[in-house]
Amino acid sequence: MRSLKDTVVAVTGASSGIGAATARTLVEAGAQVVLGARHRDRLDALVADLGAAATPVEMDVRSPEGPQRLVAAALDTYGRIDSLVANAGIGAYGGILDHSDEVLSDIMDTNLAGTVWTIRAALPSMLAAGAGDIVIVSSVAGLRGGADEAVYAATKFAQVGLAGSLDRELRERGIRVSTICPAGVETEFAMGLGRTKDMPGLHDMLAADDVAAAIRCVLEQPRTMRTQLWSMWSMSQGS
Ligand SMILES: NC(=O)c1ccc[n+]([C@@H]2O[C@H](COP(=O)([O-])OP(=O)(O)OC[C@H]3O[C@@H](n4cnc5c(N)ncnc54)[C@H](OP(=O)(O)O)[C@@H]3O)[C@@H](O)[C@H]2O)c1
Repeated sequence: MRSLKDTVVAVTGASSGIGAATARTLVEAGAQVVLGARHRDRLDALVADLGAAATPVEMDVRSPEGPQRLVAAALDTYGRIDSLVANAGIGAYGGILDHSDEVLSDIMDTNLAGTVWTIRAALPSMLAAGAGDIVIVSSVAGLRGGADEAVYAATKFAQVGLAGSLDRELRERGIRVSTICPAGVETEFAMGLGRTKDMPGLHDMLAADDVAAAIRCVLEQPRTMRTQLWSMWSMSQGS
């Protein structure tokens, strides 16, 4: 395994769920993390817990400026960015006519455009270094679709396509692009938009820590190989 000690990892969507769990496990592995999300209070609370190895950046992935500030913070603080975890994302359950134009637009802007802006911000310094890791958190919905999540699934398919294309485009320049596709995870995801805290099955889903462990494992692989796609379910979830 490759040590992550002193590597610099930027994580979007780090204020809760999978992103916060990823930040924790990466700091345990010795990495320095730059954590982006909109809720500054949550980022500050996490950083207070993680200590000097974590830097918070209040940012929004829906336009290029947010990711650019995240990457600038990594470069200003640590002088480089070794890895990027493009995790920020939102979803809502319901038929394609059930949500407002604004909700659907927000899902597309956050999950698809947000991932593109985030990768474009981080890539130049990785290319200059001739090495880097990009991990995109997509979903099993991005592999097969799902009733009542059509627009969300479309954005997750788009992430898988983006990652597969970038793998082919960037491998020879030292950049590994991996996609993690989890089934349902017990987080704040879609709460109030099709999920509730007392919904049946919530506690049988994957835990945020399960997905964080997969992300860490991908980053810890020796740079002689690469993980293209990792789909994952809890033992209670049928595939
Ligand atoms: N939970 C599941 O069942 C599940 C399954 C498969 C895949 N996923 C994927 O996993 C990823 C993380 O979700 P989660 O389950 O950990 O849910 P979560 O707890 O709701 O976390 C979502 C994170 O994304 C951030 N975020 C949302 N919009 C943002 C924006 N415009 N700019 C910056 N950050 C933004 C949120 O922070 P702020 O609100 O502070 O900005 C939060 O930190 C998502 O991409 C999701 O699609 C989730």
